[in-house]
Amino acid sequence: MIKVRVPAKVNVQLGVGGLRADGFHDLANVFFAVALGDEVTAAPGEGVTLTCSGPDAAQVPLDDTNLAARAARLLAAHHGLADPGVHLHIAKAIPVAGGMAGGSADGAAALVACDALWGLDTPFENLLDLAAELGSDVPFALLGGVALGRGRGEILEALPVTGTFHWVFAVADGGLSTPAVFRECDRLREEAGTGSGDTDVPTPDAAPALLAALATGDPAALAAALTNDLQSAALSLRPSLAATLAAGTEAGAIGALVSGSGPTCAFLAKDAEAAEALATALAASGTCRTAHATYGPVPGAAIHPRATES
Ligand code: C5P
Repeated sequence: MIKVRVPAKVNVQLGVGGLRADGFHDLANVFFAVALGDEVTAAPGEGVTLTCSGPDAAQVPLDDTNLAARAARLLAAHHGLADPGVHLHIAKAIPVAGGMAGGSADGAAALVACDALWGLDTPFENLLDLAAELGSDVPFALLGGVALGRGRGEILEALPVTGTFHWVFAVADGGLSTPAVFRECDRLREEAGTGSGDTDVPTPDAAPALLAALATGDPAALAAALTNDLQSAALSLRPSLAATLAAGTEAGAIGALVSGSGPTCAFLAKDAEAAEALATALAASGTCRTAHATYGPVPGAAIHPRATES
């Protein structure tokens, strides 16, 4: 049995370019991996089967649309395994459809877990290519740390970072659909008269002040540099998120933004103690379902050595 831990992500910068002909948007996407994560276990089995546990397990699809199941099949096909056998179990802690790439994380974890279970020794570069086939956020879940994602987010460059940053995530009731949030972003741009195509919207780039804040480990500077071009679209679809962001700021967060396509809201705290106090205040604020204090950056999907037996 192989157990893999995999992080969730928050985007400390999500710069969204115009809509491309292939339906994706060019991004300048600064991914940041946090300790709040899922565990995916791979055990020998017949065919590819999947179970899930955790408070939100009922919202996780267990059919072939699940990225963990798709990852197992894709890896098997890549190696010409005609009849792959694995039972995957997801212990789910990452909010479902929450803008923290939880489904992508499970896809990345399943690639690593099945690779080990089946003794395939797939080179990391090939795992990254398979991950990009599964979804735009899957390669980062393999890499972890902090990275700039270009293209649709899958072309990664690891970024230098100093120290640990402390985060709180406020989890909403119900998810938001990522394609719907990107569509709303395009609609708002059309409405503002700026156009939404890739010839109208300049290709975004990583902000120098953000890169400097990460490299020097300065939480106040990172807080001031947080940006998310999908935030107005997420707020347009879910206006109640404005109250969540305000509650976090009132409770002492030094930075606040919607995580990815939302609806989870991310808050930066000055240290671990402040993060714990902020999570307690947010959970009691009535503006979210629950709140978690966590930290990062942390590594990408990795086998848990003590939990692995052959
Ligand atoms: O790559 P992934 O399957 O995670 O993307 C889900 C959806 O999010 C895409 O079908 C697309 O609608 C939107 N998306 C986008 N531009 C990106 C990444 C995702 O428009 N760079």
